[in-house]
Amino acid sequence: MLQGKRVVVLGGSAGIGRAVAELALREGAHVTVVSHQLERVERAVTELRAIAPRVAGQAVDLRSQPAVSQLFERVGSLDHLVYTAGEELLIKPLAELDLDAGRAFFELRYWGALRAIQAARPRLAGDGSIVLTSGAASRRPHPGFVIGASICGAMEAVTRTLAVELAPIRVNIVIPGFVDTELWSNVPAAAKQQMFREAAAKLPVGRIGAAEDIAEHYLSFMRGRYVTGQALVVDGGGVLV
Ligand SMILES: NC(=O)c1ccc[n+]([C@@H]2O[C@H](COP(=O)([O-])OP(=O)(O)OC[C@H]3O[C@@H](n4cnc5c(N)ncnc54)[C@H](OP(=O)(O)O)[C@@H]3O)[C@@H](O)[C@H]2O)c1
Repeated sequence: MLQGKRVVVLGGSAGIGRAVAELALREGAHVTVVSHQLERVERAVTELRAIAPRVAGQAVDLRSQPAVSQLFERVGSLDHLVYTAGEELLIKPLAELDLDAGRAFFELRYWGALRAIQAARPRLAGDGSIVLTSGAASRRPHPGFVIGASICGAMEAVTRTLAVELAPIRVNIVIPGFVDTELWSNVPAAAKQQMFREAAAKLPVGRIGAAEDIAEHYLSFMRGRYVTGQALVVDGGGVLV
């Protein structure tokens, strides 16, 4: 169903975005992966070209307004915009939180997404879609997650609002739970393994998610011509327990 469609994945060099790019490519789409670090973009493009040649890469800092405008001038028209760009989490109790650092954290996941949508909108096909990214912290509170949870909640509100404002372009959002990606690379390996083991033991599905588990649902939102303004929790049942 994505045969011949043009899909741009912002945050497509790693993790969930990389998995979305791969699945879209396997379904016949033309895929552009975008992220900040040139070498990571080039590596992803090289790996993805082994699957199909319909892939290109762009190194862009999504926190920069001019860079994002120029990106979409280069990319031209597109059918689906996917936003998965994100950075390591800022986990701090409010009492210890540097509020300026907290404010800066909105720059990529919140303002970056709005900036990209604003620049892409005139080039998006009327029967196309936007798929955004939240996180289960918006539904299942944890101490220390006040900034991350706020961004997630804001992105879910953005989704419902733009689904109405940008119609007929569809706008949906995926809400991942724990996923084993490089997002957690700032946690020391042993502590990360323990965190994942403990989290997996509590989950109804008994394991932590892989990027591919989540990516499938971005594809479903791209294909699903009768779904807009919706949020899907993909967390192995974490919000239930
Ligand atoms: N992993 C989880 O457990 C989890 C759970 C809930 C929600 N999420 C959310 O899901 C999204 C994707 O997470 P992930 O686990 O796939 O993360 P990831 O593996 O760390 O990938 C993040 C992607 O964002 C790109 N990126 C970072 N800063 C950028 C910038 N300034 N400009 C452009 N691209 C930038 C990275 O590439 P470069 O380094 O090349 O810039 C990379 O391609 C994030 O919003 C995350 O918060 C993840």
